[in-house]
Amino acid sequence: MTEQLTAEQYAESLYAEDPILRMVTEGIRAADMPEISIAPGYGRLLTLLVRMSGAKRVLEIGALGGYSGICLARGLGETGRVVSLELKPDFAEVAKRHVTAAGLGDKVEYRIGEALDSLDALEREGARFDLYFIDADKGNYLNYLERAIRLANPGAIIVGDNALMRGRVVDPSVTSNSVQVMRRFNETIATDPRLESTLLPAYDGLCIARVRTP
Ligand SMILES: C[S@@+](CC[C@H](N)C(=O)[O-])C[C@H]1O[C@@H](n2cnc3c(N)ncnc32)[C@H](O)[C@@H]1O
Repeated sequence: MTEQLTAEQYAESLYAEDPILRMVTEGIRAADMPEISIAPGYGRLLTLLVRMSGAKRVLEIGALGGYSGICLARGLGETGRVVSLELKPDFAEVAKRHVTAAGLGDKVEYRIGEALDSLDALEREGARFDLYFIDADKGNYLNYLERAIRLANPGAIIVGDNALMRGRVVDPSVTSNSVQVMRRFNETIATDPRLESTLLPAYDGLCIARVRTP
C-alpha cells in the first residue's frame, strides 16, 4: 500500500532536489551545527519574493549555514546585495563558504555579533532595506520588527520565520518568554496599521508583511 504523503511532503515531491542546497544541509550536518535552516518551500518563496519585488537591498537576521542567504541572493538582480547578521563567527564562516560555493559570494556581506548592535551600526550608516528576513533569536523578534520598519524603504517586505514555533505558539499552556514574544510579534504583524500582511501556517509558520507607503 502506498503511504499517504503530508501536504508538505507532496509539495516537496514536485521539485527536483537542489544540489546546492543539499551541499549546504550536508555542510551544516558535517560542522555539527543545528539543522534549523528554513524549510525548502519557504526558501523558494524567499527567492520569489526578492525577485518579484525587485528588492535591491536585503537584510537577513540569522545566517546559520547560508541556506536562506543563498535563497535570498538567488532572487537578486545584477546590483542587489544581501547583508546577513550572525552572532557566531564560526557559523558566519560556514555560511560564507557555502554562499561562495553557490557562486553568490559577491552578493552577501556578513556582519558578526549581536544583531541589535549590527542594526544600530547600520542605522548610523544610514542603511535602508527593501526586504528583510527575520530568523534569529525569537525573544528579539519584536525588536527586529521595529528596527526593520525604521530602516525600511517605502513598500519594504518583512518576512519572519517560525511564527508557530512547532505548535507552541498555539498551545495556551506554553508561556515561555520566546513564545509570548512570538505571539505578540504575530499579533503586531497582523494588526499594526503600518503594515499589510499575512501569516502562512505551513511548515513552521511564516509571516509576510509589507510596510505601507505613507
Ligand atoms: C534559525 S537559525 C537561521 C537559519 C537561516 N536563516 C537559514 O534558514 O538558513 C538562527 C541563527 O540566528 C543566530 N542568532 C541567534 N541569536 C542571534 C543574535 N542575537 N544576533 C545575531 N544572530 C543570532 C544563530 O546563531 C543562528 O545561526
